[in-house]
Amino acid sequence: MCGIVGILGAKPVAEDLVDALRRLEYRGYDSAGVATVENGHLERRRAEGKLRNLSERLMREPLAGKAGIGHTRWATHGAPSERNAHPHMSENVCVVHNGIIENFRELREELTRAGAVFASDTDTEVVAHLISYEMRKGAEPVEATRNALGRLRGAFALAIIFAGHDNLMIGAREGSPLAVGHGDQQMFLGSDAIALAPFTDKVTYLEEGDWVVLHRESFEIRDRQGRKVERPMLTSQASGFLVDKGNHRHFMLKEIHEQAEVISHTLTNYMDMAAGTVRFPDLGVDLATVPRITISACGTAYYAGLVAKYWLERYARIPVEIDVASELRYREAPMPEGGLAVFVSQSGETADTLATLRYCKAAGQRIVSVVNVRNSTIARESHVVLPTLAGPEIGVASTKAFTCQLSALACLALAVARARGQLSEERERELVRALVEVPRHLTSLLRDERRYEELAHWFSKAKDVLYLGRGLSYPIALEGALKLKEISYIHAEGYAAGEMKHGPIALIDEKVPVVVVAPNDDLFEKTVSNMQEVAARGGQIVLVSDADRDSIGCEVAAHIRMPALHPFVTPLVYALPMQLIAYHTAVLMGTDVDQPRNLAKSVTVE
Ligand code: F6R
Repeated sequence: MCGIVGILGAKPVAEDLVDALRRLEYRGYDSAGVATVENGHLERRRAEGKLRNLSERLMREPLAGKAGIGHTRWATHGAPSERNAHPHMSENVCVVHNGIIENFRELREELTRAGAVFASDTDTEVVAHLISYEMRKGAEPVEATRNALGRLRGAFALAIIFAGHDNLMIGAREGSPLAVGHGDQQMFLGSDAIALAPFTDKVTYLEEGDWVVLHRESFEIRDRQGRKVERPMLTSQASGFLVDKGNHRHFMLKEIHEQAEVISHTLTNYMDMAAGTVRFPDLGVDLATVPRITISACGTAYYAGLVAKYWLERYARIPVEIDVASELRYREAPMPEGGLAVFVSQSGETADTLATLRYCKAAGQRIVSVVNVRNSTIARESHVVLPTLAGPEIGVASTKAFTCQLSALACLALAVARARGQLSEERERELVRALVEVPRHLTSLLRDERRYEELAHWFSKAKDVLYLGRGLSYPIALEGALKLKEISYIHAEGYAAGEMKHGPIALIDEKVPVVVVAPNDDLFEKTVSNMQEVAARGGQIVLVSDADRDSIGCEVAAHIRMPALHPFVTPLVYALPMQLIAYHTAVLMGTDVDQPRNLAKSVTVE
């Protein structure tokens, strides 16, 4: 993970580097650092913890160089401490790195034998020493870097500066994203276009194996074989993006509140509201005959995929295989000829999802991705991209991206259902109408947010919380549990309601809140039976349902009253109470809601 940035600027760059890092903090935030070339010397400042610690350090000890690199870290090798914070240096080379150098141990041994002295526990430091080693043998910086890159195995995006070279920066990409930003007599490198948005909207994305030599007035990209290559210069959409919480206390809350609007945008992209029909792009396969759909993703995005599986099977009658990306590839799942594979990702950079996409592509599948970040690697490597129009999601816990993923996937399910002759025009209009009403329901539910502040007092005292759901509500129960544990650090598990009696029921006692996601649909009666089993053992039920609490024949400790909804759209609306329970509990517990411990927004390591 980690975010990297580099600037060859017209004025001292330290402040701009920190500004860019602020936009990359979603990629990691356990330490940060910057370095510049100052009077020919490499000077760096690093700090453990959040970026503000680095900013404070720079106020006390400013940097004046006009060529510099910066890094915000999510620790992989070595504890999050100042000595392990990037940039890492040898005597004349300074480097920031996102990814993992897999062969760093053997390189470190070799370089130590050759006299290098290592000052950190990181894999990254070998890169600086390796380039220095090549330079000691007589190579100039560019040639030395090329030789060193040829010896690295693993995934990396690198930005490198050199002592004595105020107008030179080298970037390299192998498995981790890197964009070149083009300014007026200035050049930039960044993990994504958002980092570069304040400086330029002209970006070139490096491809796998590419490396770039930058001077203020020119740049040259070479591929893995060292051949000069041209990559397109794009105009990034990211420039309008402001890192701003508005009136909200946290980005997560702002993003929860944005859902009605961004779901509308996403739905509008995939439907003809006036006609009441889905308007879907050509996926390049015959949806009527495609033998199977494979879905893969990680975390919250996986739960969106799981909802899609239920939708596709029930409404389109098509077989769907789904697994988390870190498993699907390694179990070497066989892929059917002519199959469609769908990947779901907010960032579009998740390493496991990307690797599984490549696995499915190699197995001849048609690749469709549902992504939020337009020019991300997953988007670029897909045959067809279905964008979610959530806008930038800054809170590490996914909220609006999730419901936008559900919106796009719901339309996909309807498009497949129609193509397979499973959806009459009238039924399509009914389901489209139900989707169109989702934003209105969310807006009215948000008026009653105080309710969740009250509930949070109770949740914050719990050590364990269970979430139960059946059918389409099962993935929402899983998502509810994930949200709570990742931001409040309270242990929470989601289960299929019917599975309770096969083991988890042993956990129930009067101290365990049990959140039951139970819309009054065709499975409601079954879920009621499971609730009664919980109540009989003293479990404290939080019922999330449109049904009357009296209709369930047992005591409930709290009832979050939901509107009556079409069963098709319940996941989109029931996600909201899950998010609000987690958010208000975390706020009460005083955790870092937007940047919870040990996590990062974009997970670019396997
Ligand atoms: C949880 C969360 C993560 C992500 C997962 C995949 O709130 O955000 O579980 O959903 O890391 O990330 P993307 O969607 O970027 O592939």
